[in-house]
Amino acid sequence: MAEIHAAVLTVSDRSFAGTREDFSGPAIIDLLKTQGIELTHYSIVPDDRESIISQLSDWINEGSSNIIFTTGGTGFSPHDVTPEATKTIIERETPGISEFIRARSAEKTPHAILSRAVSGICKNCLIINLPGSPKAACESVQFIFPVLPHAIELLLDQPDSEKNH
Ligand code: MTE
Repeated sequence: MAEIHAAVLTVSDRSFAGTREDFSGPAIIDLLKTQGIELTHYSIVPDDRESIISQLSDWINEGSSNIIFTTGGTGFSPHDVTPEATKTIIERETPGISEFIRARSAEKTPHAILSRAVSGICKNCLIINLPGSPKAACESVQFIFPVLPHAIELLLDQPDSEKNH
């Protein structure tokens, strides 16, 4: 079984400025711990395309993460640019992950379809956008926990990965 090493990036102007505590990043980190997933990095950036791209690129080039979760900036407001920043980084889209999160989330609240979150692969790292509220982010990440080990095995091209099909 592949070991999962995950980074968490909170995207929020107010949390970056220190005027609102970031509850979402730490809540995701706590959930990852319950699954034995190792945290590689945690950071907060503002809702700014270049800042998001720069942090994602740094972590991918540094190479210790095989998943990066972003939280925030996926909605409709003019400052929500996380999906656009993510799309400039990813080489291969993984639409099934984001579609599944949206579909399962919509069973809880119709507002879930207002998330424009995307996901995809860059090098050997899977980037997954999550919505911004702690509740929404945690619900979303829980939906995909069951598929993550196999996803990472495939991503890392591990010899036994086909056995889990
Ligand atoms: N997904 C889940 N699972 N649960 C939720 O409560 N709320 C949504 C949504 N996704 C929600 C959810 C709401 S209210 C919005 S506006 C969008 O995600 C975008 O959120 P963001 O702009 O904070 O990223």
